[in-house]
Amino acid sequence: MEKVTNYILENQDRYIEELKDFLRIPSISAGTENKKDIQQCASFVADKLTAAGLSRVEIFQTEGHPIVYGEWLGAPGKPTVLIYGHYDVQPVDPLELWNTPPFEPVVKDGKIWARGATDDKGQLFIHVKSVEAFFKSNGSLPLNVKFVLEGEEEIGSESLAVFLKQNKDMLKCDAVLISDTSLYAPGVPSITYGLRGLCYMEVEVTGPDHDLHSGSFGGAVANPINILASMIARLQDKKGKITIPGFYEDVLPLSKKEKESIKSLKFSEKAFAKELKVAELKGEEGYTTLERLWARPTLDCNGIWGGFTGTGAKTVIPSKASAKISMRLVPNQDPKKIAKMFTSYFKTLAPKSVKVNVKALHGGYPVVVPLEHKVIVAASEAMEKAFGKKTVYMREGGSIPIVVDFVKNLKAPAVLMGFGLDSENLHSPNEHFDLNHFRLGILSSSYFLEGLSQKG
Ligand code: BES
Ligand code: MN
Ligand code: MN
Repeated sequence: MEKVTNYILENQDRYIEELKDFLRIPSISAGTENKKDIQQCASFVADKLTAAGLSRVEIFQTEGHPIVYGEWLGAPGKPTVLIYGHYDVQPVDPLELWNTPPFEPVVKDGKIWARGATDDKGQLFIHVKSVEAFFKSNGSLPLNVKFVLEGEEEIGSESLAVFLKQNKDMLKCDAVLISDTSLYAPGVPSITYGLRGLCYMEVEVTGPDHDLHSGSFGGAVANPINILASMIARLQDKKGKITIPGFYEDVLPLSKKEKESIKSLKFSEKAFAKELKVAELKGEEGYTTLERLWARPTLDCNGIWGGFTGTGAKTVIPSKASAKISMRLVPNQDPKKIAKMFTSYFKTLAPKSVKVNVKALHGGYPVVVPLEHKVIVAASEAMEKAFGKKTVYMREGGSIPIVVDFVKNLKAPAVLMGFGLDSENLHSPNEHFDLNHFRLGILSSSYFLEGLSQKG
């Protein structure tokens, strides 16, 4: 192992230069403008897998963006680890708020700054480089490895869901290793054992068939924006409970043991509020902030539009108003069932004076993984070895919808070994990734592969 870890430390600077090349490719999956960049990014990733030493590397074209597959199965009798990550990134707007251009990575203050740095290019690269270190220093891996790297995570992983169903044999494995989550705090090794699900809706409220003069008609007809605003307001009560009938019926309550374990984590509400520059925290009554974030479902309006939004004043009653509304779900809520409940309830909130149209955009199932599994133990030990501290177990408020598909189709446990930080501006301007965590991540990955191979 010493040869491997030495190789990792000696090659850090080159690893970072290669990560920069990766980050220069604007592989935004939303929209169609970056189709070429996505293809180029898939080729880049495939080339890196080949250079690392994998024996079979293939790019699979899909209805959407390509899936990059790589494998090395030279350790018969040893376990097989499937490593998942996503090379697509979120859009970059608002561009003017970036301190440096999103696709011109720079290293500053021990961090690398660029779109995708922490979500998820920097994190997936960790495993490519750990595998490379084994091949270059030992000529082999201690166990079998398969890589599945997709380009559609940020838009719902539709093609990968199909690919998993169709390629169960090729993807057969003993564990799925994913680095696309956060550490609990800087320098603290963390295993995530739960992710929230998602149900994302778009609603449109239509009143008159065209915009009206708000003097000639104001007061006589319903204003769709006023109505939409009050409909959204009624989706939650004063205690922060969601009012959709049946919404909570499948929610798995936290066990006493889990409540205790969450309570034992160091957390300051005050520091958290301060970091976000808000005067106070707000959420469902009767739960702590970590419980609200990790184990309770939520409903949020993500965007709202309609009418006149230019400078100055235009007196108008708009014909239409729209909003995007998402719900984060927890086990055992079902996004399809929730979408139906939302749709029928939302329609009942509208007066006769308007028409309501509701669309479900996408969804994902929540997940919790059992902590007793030996691959989780191996992951925890590996992180402890690299970080020199005790591993903490946490859940995550965000979602990775494909995790459930992996678990279901491949019948293998998922190990969520994340190296990002929630404060690293994922999905927002000035995304970055701590290079210390990048290095510790590569070490953790190599200790994990070695440790799991010994567990048999
Ligand atoms: N890597 C994130 C999930 C995540 C979010 C991990 C926050 C840790 C902290 C993932 O790429 C993501 O952004 N997921 C989306 C879901 C998807 C359907 C767009 C999300 O959670 O909004
Ligand atoms: Mn991600
Ligand atoms: Mn993301």
